[in-house]
Amino acid sequence: MTVSIAGRIGLIGDPVEHSLSPYFQQAAFDALGIDVTYELLHTPEELVPQRLSELRRGDFIGVNVTVPHKETFFRAVDQRTPVAERVGAVNTITCKNGQLTGDNTDVHGFVQSLRDAGFELDGSRAIVLGAGGASRGVVVGLLDCGAEQVVLANRTIERAQAVFDDLQDQRILPITLVEVLEHASTASLIVNATSLGWKNETLPVDRRVLARLQPGAVAYDLTYRPTAFLATAREDGLQTIDGLAMLVHQGARSFEIWTGQPAPLDAMWSAARAARNR
Ligand code: ATR
Repeated sequence: MTVSIAGRIGLIGDPVEHSLSPYFQQAAFDALGIDVTYELLHTPEELVPQRLSELRRGDFIGVNVTVPHKETFFRAVDQRTPVAERVGAVNTITCKNGQLTGDNTDVHGFVQSLRDAGFELDGSRAIVLGAGGASRGVVVGLLDCGAEQVVLANRTIERAQAVFDDLQDQRILPITLVEVLEHASTASLIVNATSLGWKNETLPVDRRVLARLQPGAVAYDLTYRPTAFLATAREDGLQTIDGLAMLVHQGARSFEIWTGQPAPLDAMWSAARAARNR
């Protein structure tokens, strides 16, 4: 079936060259015969106003937004979905009649990746490491899916406290990274949302935390490359999830928002895997 939309969609960020999104998004458009080109829109800070006018004058159907602009575009759009409002960041924009609507599909991506892995979110107790932009989407996803407690650990306690203050939810427990060990034994999920990723051999927490989690616990890293955190978790017998599933599912939800069509997930998955392994 051919869908009657045609035009441009792209990724706004800085840098964007490393992104897998063009591969799996283009695969999705091609699979459904939609005449859209997904472009990399490298956007240093000084180009943001120009991008905004391009979006407003109808050059694009929509865009994804990535680091470091998710908060900037959150402030710049004309309206926001409730989930974007809660996270305080926008990763998907739809352009219609000069009006920009900001959404956040990272939350869906995170939640769906855990569901794919068979993880029961309702009533769960989780530890989230990091309290930056990426962490906020994770915390909102966990709370909205019925988590019983979200221990939010950050090097700088004030930032974890700020997330608590913004979301006003008593299930969030803001602590520092050194306090995590005391909370490990009741948690069935630990998420690394710090920027200590695949280039860094350092673990964000004391290694003993991983061994002390609930039996069958899941270790999740938002990065889609191998990390020291995931390697260590595997050695300790934990189930692990990397960031590829979240990336694909956030992209699939963005695709559905722009096109109104169910995303061809199989095509997106194969393209994403192939692009990562290149
Ligand atoms: P992102 O958008 O990826 O979340 P960010 O907003 O810059 O990026 O947040 C980075 C997160 O990684 C923060 O939680 C940061 O901790 P601080 O708030 O204390 O800076 C965390 N982080 C970065 N480097 C770290 C390190 N060496 N050890 C521990 N945490 C680190």
